[in-house]
Amino acid sequence: METVKTIDIFYFSGTGNAKQIALWFYEFAVKKNIDCKVFNIAKIGAIKPENINPDSLILIVSPTHGFNFPKITLDFINHFPKGKNRIVLMNTRGGLKLGRYVTPGLSGIAFILSSLILKGKGYKILGQIPFDMPSNWISIHPALNENSVKFLHRKNYERIEKHANKIFSGKPDFLAYRDLVQDILISPISLGYYIVGRFVFAKSFYASANCNNCGLCIKECPVKAVKTVNNRPYWTFNCESCMKCMNSCPEKAIETAHGLLIGIWIINSVLLAFLLNNLLKIDIESELIGRIISTLAFFILLWFGYKFQHILLKNRFIARLISFTSLTRFKFWGRYNSIPDSK
Ligand SMILES: Cc1cc2nc3c(=O)[nH]c(=O)nc-3n(C[C@H](O)[C@H](O)[C@H](O)COP(=O)(O)O)c2cc1C
Repeated sequence: METVKTIDIFYFSGTGNAKQIALWFYEFAVKKNIDCKVFNIAKIGAIKPENINPDSLILIVSPTHGFNFPKITLDFINHFPKGKNRIVLMNTRGGLKLGRYVTPGLSGIAFILSSLILKGKGYKILGQIPFDMPSNWISIHPALNENSVKFLHRKNYERIEKHANKIFSGKPDFLAYRDLVQDILISPISLGYYIVGRFVFAKSFYASANCNNCGLCIKECPVKAVKTVNNRPYWTFNCESCMKCMNSCPEKAIETAHGLLIGIWIINSVLLAFLLNNLLKIDIESELIGRIISTLAFFILLWFGYKFQHILLKNRFIARLISFTSLTRFKFWGRYNSIPDSK
C-alpha cells in the first residue's frame, strides 16, 4: 500500500453536492500536506495523457441521475486517456432525513459501468464511495427544508475524514458494495432513464412570466442545453436535468411543466387509445405494437407540445396561466443549492 502524495479531483455537479464533497476531500488533503488539485468536468476539455501525473490518486465525484452517472460524467470517463493510476469513484445520491437517520439514495449502475470502462483503460479502482446528500430533484419533490439540509451536510462531512484517511493511505474503500444487490436489481431502469431523461425530462423546463431574460441559465448550463428561441430560454434535448438552472435562477422563474406533461399523457392515453382501437382495432394496453405506438406518440406529442407551449409563453397572461399548472411555482416548493457557485 503506497501512501498518496498527489491527488487530482475531477467533479461534475448540478446543484453543488458533488462539488461540496470534492471540496471537503480537498480540505482534508491540504490538512495532510498532500498536493491536491480540483477540476470541474464541465469546464475542462478532454484530458490529455500528458496532463495526468502517473503517481496521482484520481478522485471522480458526480451526482447520480436515473441510477447511473449522467452523460457528461460518462463521456468524461469514456474519453479519459489510458493510464495506471489508482482511481476512487464517488457519487452523490438523493438522501432524505428520516428522524435521526439518512435514507440512502440508489446508485444503480453508476459505479459498475464506470469501473468497467476505467479498468479497461488500465486503471486500478481503489474505491467506490456513495454520499447521500440532499436530493436536488426539485421537478418531482419540494426542496428539503433548511434543517434537513444542514443535518445531511453534517452527516456527510463527518464521514469524509474516515474515507480520506483510508484512501489517502492507499487502502481500498468499497462502501458501495453494501448496496450491490439492489443496484444490480434496479439496473434495467437506468437504461430506460437514458431515454426518458433525454426525451421527457429535458422538455419539462420552461421560463415563466417572471423571467427577465438575464441569460444566466444559458450561460451557466454545464452542457449548453439552454438556448434563446424567440427571446426566451428554450431547453434542448441536450439537457441533463442536472437542476442547476432551476435552482440557481435569481427570479425563481424556471419551472417544471407538470401541466404539459400530464396533459400530453392524458391526450396520449385517452385520445390515441380511442383512435387506435376504433380505426385500427389495436388494443393499446395489451398489444406490443399498441404500446410501441403509444410510447412513440407520447414523445412526438411532447416535442410538439413543448414547442407550442414555448410560443404561448410569449404572452404574459398565458404564461401566468401555464404557471398555475406547475407545482414548482409555489413558495413552499422551494429550491436547493448546496454551496454558492463562487466557492
Ligand atoms: C434528474 C435526476 C435524477 C436523479 N436520480 C437519482 C438516482 O437515480 N438515485 C439517487 O440516489 N439520486 C438521484 N437524484 C438525486 C441526485 O443525485 C442528488 O441529489 C445529488 O446529490 C445531486 O448532486 P449535485 O448537487 O452535485 O448535482 C437525481 C436527481 C436528478 C435531478
